[in-house]
Amino acid sequence: MKASQLFDLNGKVAVVTGASRGIGEAIAQVLSDNGAHVVVASRRLERCEEVAADLRAAGGQATALACHVGEMAAIEAFWAAIDARFERVDILVNNAGSNPIFGPVTETDPAAFQKTVDVNFRGYWFMCQYAVARMRRHGGGSIVNMASVTAERPMENIGVYGATKAAVVNLTQAYARECAQYGVRVNAILPGLINTKFAAALQTEGPVRTAALAQIPLRRIGDPIDIAGAALFLASGASSYMTGATLRIDGGLLA
Ligand SMILES: NC(=O)c1ccc[n+]([C@@H]2O[C@H](COP(=O)([O-])OP(=O)(O)OC[C@H]3O[C@@H](n4cnc5c(N)ncnc54)[C@H](OP(=O)(O)O)[C@@H]3O)[C@@H](O)[C@H]2O)c1
Repeated sequence: MKASQLFDLNGKVAVVTGASRGIGEAIAQVLSDNGAHVVVASRRLERCEEVAADLRAAGGQATALACHVGEMAAIEAFWAAIDARFERVDILVNNAGSNPIFGPVTETDPAAFQKTVDVNFRGYWFMCQYAVARMRRHGGGSIVNMASVTAERPMENIGVYGATKAAVVNLTQAYARECAQYGVRVNAILPGLINTKFAAALQTEGPVRTAALAQIPLRRIGDPIDIAGAALFLASGASSYMTGATLRIDGGLLA
């Protein structure tokens, strides 16, 4: 591969979940800007249509498709829709995430626990399974799983979320080991605190934001584009000798 083509995604089809806003939307933009046909997926088809329309208006290729990654039937229907429209899938960015619980581990509500596991763990697992089945037909692909710094360092009041993200790191390594033989690479990103709806409590000035910033050596909350650059790297040929790896993008939080 020529150095000038390291990040070139022309001719590739990329599925991005949770692409209706936040980190996923930024990743969809970056992959589209670099030539991929991006499938913009989340539960809200209307919002995905808007994001896809923006990508097309910017000169890219994009298709919106609904997918609730916490529901097995929805995952199956999503891949049937992919098969009906595309001959290949080269990239999957498993980015959709849920964190319905904020509170002590000792008071975890079983229904909220189950929802977190269904979206963040079971959903990622089976999205990988469906993607690998397609990627191996044409010699391989790249999967990028969105974990979190909480995978390595649990944080108070979001214990279940952190445990599912630790599971994402483990499943990334398991898929990486077994799917290298098919040419499929599988890596994970561990974002720190990023400016999105997910981390809304950190966006307004106040003691929570001040305490968070004090722990980040780069002294700022990250932006979705900070994560999108890493996703492009892992999705593209630039990372062709990487699989089973985790990239921390956290302003130094875990250093
Ligand atoms: N922001 C941070 O500080 C931070 C830090 C570490 C890790 N992360 C991880 O980064 C990823 C993206 O987070 P974000 O900050 O961009 O969050 P966000 O702005 O809240 O966006 C979440 C996205 O996921 C989609 N989504 C939620 N539940 C879904 C489901 N069951 N099925 C399909 N799509 C679903 C949402 O769209 P719909 O509502 O349309 O479904 C939305 O597009 C998550 O995995 C999160 O855990 C974020």
